[in-house]
Amino acid sequence: MKKAIGVFDSGVGGLTVVRELIRQLPCEDLVYFGDTARVPYGIKSRETVIRFSIENILFLLKQNVKLICVACNTASSFALPVVVNHFKVPIVGVITPGAREAVYATQNKRIGVIGTHGTIKSRTYENEIKQLEPSIKVTATACPLFVPFVEEGWLSGKVVMDVARHYLEPLKASGVDTVILGCTHYPLLKPVIRQVLGKKVTLIDSAKQVAMEIKKILAQDCCLAKNGKGRHKYYVSDNPEWFSSIARRFLGEAPKNVSKANSNV
Ligand code: DGL
Repeated sequence: MKKAIGVFDSGVGGLTVVRELIRQLPCEDLVYFGDTARVPYGIKSRETVIRFSIENILFLLKQNVKLICVACNTASSFALPVVVNHFKVPIVGVITPGAREAVYATQNKRIGVIGTHGTIKSRTYENEIKQLEPSIKVTATACPLFVPFVEEGWLSGKVVMDVARHYLEPLKASGVDTVILGCTHYPLLKPVIRQVLGKKVTLIDSAKQVAMEIKKILAQDCCLAKNGKGRHKYYVSDNPEWFSSIARRFLGEAPKNVSKANSNV
C-alpha cells in the first residue's frame, strides 16, 4: 500500500506547507494533523510544545506515514532537536531548510528572522544560521499579531501596515537584505512585509524550502511517489467547521476530507 507523508501543525497555518507539498509532489498522499484544540503553540512553553509534538507524531505514525513534516515553526524550533532521531521515519522541520536558503541568499551577511514568541525565544534559526556561516549578523523579532490578522483575513489595510511597520523596524534599522518568514502564517502577509521592507529585501518562505527538502529525502530513500494523483486527508483536534472555513486562504482550495481526531489519547 502507498504510504503517505504526514504533516502536523498547531492549527491551520501548516496548510501553507501542504500547499507547497501538493505543488511540488502532486503524486504523494498526505495526512495532515492540525492541533486546533490546543493552538496557539507560539506562546506555550518549550516543555508543552515538545509534549504536544510527540503526541502529534505518534498520531501520524498510526496513519502509516513514511515521513513526518513538522510544518509549525514553533514546534520545529522546540521539539525537532529532541524528537528527530527517536522515531522510525525521517522527521523534517522547517528551520534548517529556511536557514540554509537565507544564508545562500544574503549578499550583505545580514539576515532578519520573524516568527512567534516561542520561535524567536528559542533562537533556533539564529543558531542554524551561525552554524552555517558564523560571520552573519542575525536580527530576530517576534510578530505575534500577524497570526490572528491572517486567521481573520486581514491581509492588507492601514491597521496591518501600521503593525507591520512597528514590528519590522528593528530589521530595517539593521539593514538586513534577507528575511526568513519563520511562521506558517506569514507567507500570506508577503505583500505587506515587502511593502514595509522594500523590494530589494529577499523574503524566504520556509514552506517552499521544506517541500524541496522532503522531495530530496524521498528521492534518496527511493520512496518518491511518481504516479497518480495524491489523496489528501485532514484531521483536526477541534472544530473542523472553523478549520474548513478558513483553510482555503492557506491552501488555495477548500480541503475535502476533514475529520476530528485527538492526538493525546
Ligand atoms: N504554526 C505556528 C508557527 O509556525 C503559528 C501559530 C501558533 O502560534 O501556533 O510557529
